[in-house]
Amino acid sequence: MLVNNPFSILAGSISPIFMQSFVILMGLLIVIGTLMDIIHKKNVKYFFNNAKKAKKSATKSLTTGERISVISKTIASDIATTSELGAGKRRLAHVMGMYGTILFWVASVVMIFFYSNPSSITPAAWPVIWHIGALMTVLGGSWFWFFLRVDVYSEAHPWYRIIKADLFVLALVSSSFFGLVWSFLQSANLQGRWDDKVFLVFFIVSNLVLFGGVYWSKFAHMFYKPGAALQKNLAEADGSRDNLPPEADAPEQFGLGIKREEPKHY
Ligand code: HEM
Repeated sequence: MLVNNPFSILAGSISPIFMQSFVILMGLLIVIGTLMDIIHKKNVKYFFNNAKKAKKSATKSLTTGERISVISKTIASDIATTSELGAGKRRLAHVMGMYGTILFWVASVVMIFFYSNPSSITPAAWPVIWHIGALMTVLGGSWFWFFLRVDVYSEAHPWYRIIKADLFVLALVSSSFFGLVWSFLQSANLQGRWDDKVFLVFFIVSNLVLFGGVYWSKFAHMFYKPGAALQKNLAEADGSRDNLPPEADAPEQFGLGIKREEPKHY
């Protein structure tokens, strides 16, 4: 199963053009959903106005070298390792799900666009990347959803309580999970059975929910968060500090603050 390209097997019954059009449609849904979200929340407009306002209180102008250094550190720490989540389980679960998703999506695009012909030979690395990516997404996302999300972890709600905010993580985990089961059943080659087709339908539907739900879900945080981290780090470097009060003329010793105890007040 691990080395089988599920899309080239599927190409025996569905034209690769259909699969490629589906991927393009999913890409369009991301763009449309994110643009609708931006227009509705006016968050990007606020973000740029705020950045322009903060720039006026900059105490130094950054050289190109300093800018590149801030941008590189933001990419390496805030974005690539989600440093905002601190050290611990929350960050580990997120990093696992995030890289799993990236691997799963990249391998899907490569296999669908370059190796989805029944006669094409897929280099073994791509199906392996696809399956490992899906598994990482299921593990990281489930760890977060069952154990770490605030409603369960800090507010003592049962794990099965589902609200609108769960749309993104549930659709993400479902699409990888159904993809894995579909691939397994398809490569098991159960002649005359319909099991793999049922899971293929689940896989398609969960992708439609994931990409069609961008406007209502937390999907777009993967674009907003890097932008916000970059702005925060640049504002710290140029002294504008997002118009926050200046640093105290004393060492930064504020005690443990919210790290004094686990946030479990119920
Ligand atoms: C492929 C890219 C990404 C995927 C698949 C992904 C996935 C997720 C998921 C499933 C959640 C849980 C959502 C929920 O609250 O229900 C989440 C939350 C979060 N993500 Fe991402 N993410 C991605 C990129 C990023 C990036 C680039 C950043 C930061 C620069 C980021 C920062 C966060 C933060 C701070 C949370 C809140 C975590 C919490 O409440 O504990 N994510 N992400």
